[in-house]
Amino acid sequence: MKTGLTQIIKNYKQDIDSSNNLNSLKKVEIKYLGRNGQLTALLKQIKDLPDQEKRTHAPALQQAKQQFTKIYQKKEKEITATKINQELNSEFFDITLPNLNPSPSPRPGTIHPLATVQKEIEGIFSEMGFTIIDGPEVESEYYNFEALNIPASHPARDMQDTFFIDHPKDDKHGHLLLRTHTSPAQIRAMEKYGAPLRIIVPGRVFRYEATDNTHDSVFRQMEGMLIDKDISLANFKGIITNFLSRLYKKEITIRIRPGYFPFVEPGIEIDILWKKGKNGQLDKWLEVIPAGMIHPHVIKAGGLDPNIHQGWAFGMGLTRLVMIKYQIDNIRLFHSNDIRFLSQFK
Ligand code: DAH
Repeated sequence: MKTGLTQIIKNYKQDIDSSNNLNSLKKVEIKYLGRNGQLTALLKQIKDLPDQEKRTHAPALQQAKQQFTKIYQKKEKEITATKINQELNSEFFDITLPNLNPSPSPRPGTIHPLATVQKEIEGIFSEMGFTIIDGPEVESEYYNFEALNIPASHPARDMQDTFFIDHPKDDKHGHLLLRTHTSPAQIRAMEKYGAPLRIIVPGRVFRYEATDNTHDSVFRQMEGMLIDKDISLANFKGIITNFLSRLYKKEITIRIRPGYFPFVEPGIEIDILWKKGKNGQLDKWLEVIPAGMIHPHVIKAGGLDPNIHQGWAFGMGLTRLVMIKYQIDNIRLFHSNDIRFLSQFK
């Protein structure tokens, strides 16, 4: 048995040495340690040996078995390492090479339709000599209402449901609130720059109201104001017709109707002739811009003398203009951050 074992060990080592992949290694293992393996056969014979011989051979066989496992594992490691190295060498790539087969480039961003139209309108008014200014979104009762000829008792305060800010009331300026319109900037501009004045004020406004397809609690307006000497509605009509024709890139017909706003007298509504009706004629009027001659109380609140300076003002719904321009029928899409909506605009 002893010579047999020595031979088996020698053969095993040779077989292991000459196997160069995991498959052949596995076969060697089966040849010696499998159910009908050569070493297994010796191990099986042990139990039939006389005790004396058992005692001498059994430990040698067990040792051989452990040795086999060690040799096997060592070779297995070698083969695996060689394989990995081969793979790494054959798959070598130069990370400094430019990408010759780029994946689709990332989707470029698009400009929000509100921003596009706002910029366009700003451009038109700038060319007509208007300055673009900002007003604060957090306003006081004084600027948002009082100075605009809307005293506390005035029913017009109910026309604009207001978000008040939880803050101690200031004696001079009343409560703080989120501006309900861009009109307070009229007062601030007169206070700061005096007359003559030509400004537009784009910005967000806030109303405490339930949202639906055409109402949101946050939307955009653009205030416009011109103050000078000898200003009349004729001047306003000229400028606004010019503006609308440039915005819609065609001759626009407007209609002026009376409207009521406490800060203008007279107050008007500008409608534009819009859709084609059944007979193929343009016959639908669309209300686009409320406006009017600035009320003398408002000119006074701005620190000017209404006997010397007059002016007009308008407050257009920027969000609404954009909805009309692109035929967007749900105002909530503007703040939805929905890429399917946004990516339609360039
Ligand atoms: N501020 C008004 C609103 O939000 C809109 C408005 C109407 C502004 C007439 C004006 C104006 O400047 O003259 O409902």
